[in-house]
Amino acid sequence: SRLEMFVDELPDMPKLPGFRMENASPKPNLLSIGMFKKKWRFHRDLPPTPVYAYGASFTTATVPGPTIEALHGVDTHVTWTNYLPPKHILPWDPTIPTAEPANKKGIPTVVHLHGGIHEPASDGNSNAWFTAGFKEKGPIWSKTTYHYNNNQQPGNLWYHDHAMGLTRVNLLAGLIGAYVIRHPEVEGPLKLPAGHEFDRNLVVFDRAFRKDGSIYMNSTGNNPSIHPQWQPEYFGDVIVVNGKAWPKLTVRRRKYRFRIINASNARFFRFFFTNGLEFVHVSSDSAYLGAPVVTNQTLLAPSEIADVIVDFSKSKTDEAVLANDAPYPYPSGDPINESNGKIMKFTIKKNLEVDTSRVPDKLIEYPSPDTSVVAQTRYIAMYEYTSATDEPTHLYINAKPYEAPVTETPKAGTSEIWNVINLTEDNHPLHIHLGLFTVLDQTELVKLEEFKECMSKKKDAVKCQISKYARGRKLGVPAHEKGWKNVYKMTPGHVTRILVRFSYIHTNTSYTFDPTGMPGYVYHCHILDHEDNAMMRPLMVVK
Ligand code: C2O
Ligand code: CU
Repeated sequence: SRLEMFVDELPDMPKLPGFRMENASPKPNLLSIGMFKKKWRFHRDLPPTPVYAYGASFTTATVPGPTIEALHGVDTHVTWTNYLPPKHILPWDPTIPTAEPANKKGIPTVVHLHGGIHEPASDGNSNAWFTAGFKEKGPIWSKTTYHYNNNQQPGNLWYHDHAMGLTRVNLLAGLIGAYVIRHPEVEGPLKLPAGHEFDRNLVVFDRAFRKDGSIYMNSTGNNPSIHPQWQPEYFGDVIVVNGKAWPKLTVRRRKYRFRIINASNARFFRFFFTNGLEFVHVSSDSAYLGAPVVTNQTLLAPSEIADVIVDFSKSKTDEAVLANDAPYPYPSGDPINESNGKIMKFTIKKNLEVDTSRVPDKLIEYPSPDTSVVAQTRYIAMYEYTSATDEPTHLYINAKPYEAPVTETPKAGTSEIWNVINLTEDNHPLHIHLGLFTVLDQTELVKLEEFKECMSKKKDAVKCQISKYARGRKLGVPAHEKGWKNVYKMTPGHVTRILVRFSYIHTNTSYTFDPTGMPGYVYHCHILDHEDNAMMRPLMVVK
């Protein structure tokens, strides 16, 4: 018996202000957010599911967690506290590098504010994990209260767990939440749809459930003699938005703003409306676009964000289903089916509304990438190291385990070109902490097998004469993805050239880093199952 679609209302997650008002002026706020084990009802007909939920308290904890609303230029401090009982609700695999508390008791957690530009000690490094009551701590744990400057461009961020080797299971369990930075002086004049009714976060992920309501995760790896449990990608057939399976929402016949976060482990979504409604993109995972871009469909890799205006006054029908047609794994996996091809349903009220919101011709202009100031060029190779049975053992970047000494040490305030070489068959969403980037181009690799052969021996793109191979067809970057981002889809068999800035983009100020810094930042594939099997490397920003 399949769950009926479109029966639960779309929830709005509770909001927590990242600032407080004092004599009519905003002041820094200290939030206290816990991680709790509780039960969450994902669907009217599904028994409550044991989850890990973020919240200001046990009773208010939700999946996804509360949306933190921060203000540009006003600090938010958060004490993240782990209240989780010792045993995990999901299977995890000790054969991949994993946070392990000394007494094997407790669930390691650590929170990363994805898209945030802040000190390394507050970045939620995978090795800065901690268990309940801070009893056990990871090797580079340094503080209980994180400090987010919010000194960056307004936009869409999200927070989620980042514990070494446990990110995929901790997020599956529910440790996810949205974070918005607002900048009323620059955003206000745009007059985009605003306020809690017309400006909403949609946090979308896929899950599989057992009959008893619990989250189903295959507990046997494809090749249990290599990895007893780890699987290359987690997929579920139930699509959850803001904590409800295939929800419904009644909307007015006017414009809405949706900040859509793909919070899946591995699933790409290619969203479209069944009645042809369009997406007007105004921003992405990091920053506003210079001008709005209209599309019929929107492809989001895990952790990418689409910030779009949807104008329901243009709807010819009274109903619109937000649907998905992305194969999984992307791009060459299974086609979608009845379940995972539907996201949620909108019922559009009949009467046309007076709508004073608008989509201006110009949004917010940020400096465009300047390749003449590039301080360093790097080559980042993604490769699967397979065993004799063809099962990937590790998905290392540049053939290096996470623990190998840091090789990416950009200078604060500089820009770099990264050539990301994807030698696998999957598309990998590359996410860089701290650095914002623009995608310059993607070039197909010619004589791919020959190049791979060399790379498997020499493990060095320059020694393998990458320039001889990076000569194929060029893929254009879609207009709505040309702005500053923090994650992007690395096309298989291609070199993707990105320009990364290790500084703010809205001013000329360099990021001031913590000079005592451990390699606090990381970059990685945001398919969580890949990230956990070491498709992640340290990143240290230096003076
Ligand atoms: Cu969204 Cu390193 O993470
Ligand atoms: Cu990947």
